[in-house]
Amino acid sequence: MSDRSLSRRDLLEAAALAGAASLLPAPAEAKDAPAPAAPGWVLVTSANGVEAAKTARQALIQGKDPLDAAIAGVNVVELDPDDVTVGYGGIPNEEGVVELDAAVMDGRTMRAGAVGALTGVKTPSKVARLVMDRTDRVFLVGAGARKFATAHGFADEDLLTPKTRKIWLYWREKLTDLDDWIEAADEAKDPDVKWFLQKYGAEIFRPQGTIHMSVRTASSDLVSVTTTSGLFFKIPGRVGDSPVVGAGLYAENGVGAAGSTGRGEANLVTCGSHSVVEFLRQGLSPEEACLAALKRISEKTHLVPRHRDAKGRPRFNVNFYCVDARGRTGGAAIWSGNKHVVADLDGVRTVDSAYLYKRGS
Ligand code: GLY
Repeated sequence: MSDRSLSRRDLLEAAALAGAASLLPAPAEAKDAPAPAAPGWVLVTSANGVEAAKTARQALIQGKDPLDAAIAGVNVVELDPDDVTVGYGGIPNEEGVVELDAAVMDGRTMRAGAVGALTGVKTPSKVARLVMDRTDRVFLVGAGARKFATAHGFADEDLLTPKTRKIWLYWREKLTDLDDWIEAADEAKDPDVKWFLQKYGAEIFRPQGTIHMSVRTASSDLVSVTTTSGLFFKIPGRVGDSPVVGAGLYAENGVGAAGSTGRGEANLVTCGSHSVVEFLRQGLSPEEACLAALKRISEKTHLVPRHRDAKGRPRFNVNFYCVDARGRTGGAAIWSGNKHVVADLDGVRTVDSAYLYKRGS
């Protein structure tokens, strides 16, 4: 697969060999979102990006720069205290500190900027953009990223909300009976704690949420941004795929742009977003390219027993989102039931993502 294009037939043959009948989606699901009727701008974003897409769409209608538009879009989610997976109000690390990761990439210039484990800034995507524009570097992390943000006038703010503080305290107190932290009698009845347990309590792998957005302009320019608070209750300093160019995002004019959400470690070791764009280069459609990169993650999961289910499939999920230089969009996940968001001049719509495996199968 390394030196020749991966055709639909290859995928079907591989699916048959792997016994994974759902490696390619059913024909109805295999359709990419239709290309714009007239060549125009289009954006693709993760399922949590409806409001972000509306903001970015307005900016693009007004003729703003596509990377500015995408960053303005994801800023809406970064600033939303109720989204516990991105920016302000994100679930903190195991010590109760919110550490944020973000990156931007500009396919026009092949320049990128990224921050990892940044504290105290609600909108890390803006700092990532400054790393790209105001340094000759790509990636700043931890204390260095914080100093850089301070130098550019970003205050050091508390990113915990009352809600996430309660959730973190409850998690910390329940962690073990062997330490000094004791749960209050009525703590599990708190509406915020109940909400958290209902939404995330059953997940085998601690969840992580993220927003990705890629834009393709009318003149075929391609840009991407990804931003996240990362894995819930992570070990301090843990950085996932989101700010890593080639893993959490990748944009290259003439080919395509892609990004990811989901279990970052699986994507980091397979360089997923770069793979998606390479599959586009080999002639796959956006949706097929996303599926091919997911298939690679799934195959590599076989090597780690604790990550695979009884049938050898990943016990976690990863999503890819993609737009090619022609303006065709696609999205896919390892597991069924996921969606992504597409916006163009016609409006903003949520679309079912393709998948490798049907949940419950
Ligand atoms: N994909 C986001 C993370 O793993 O941090």
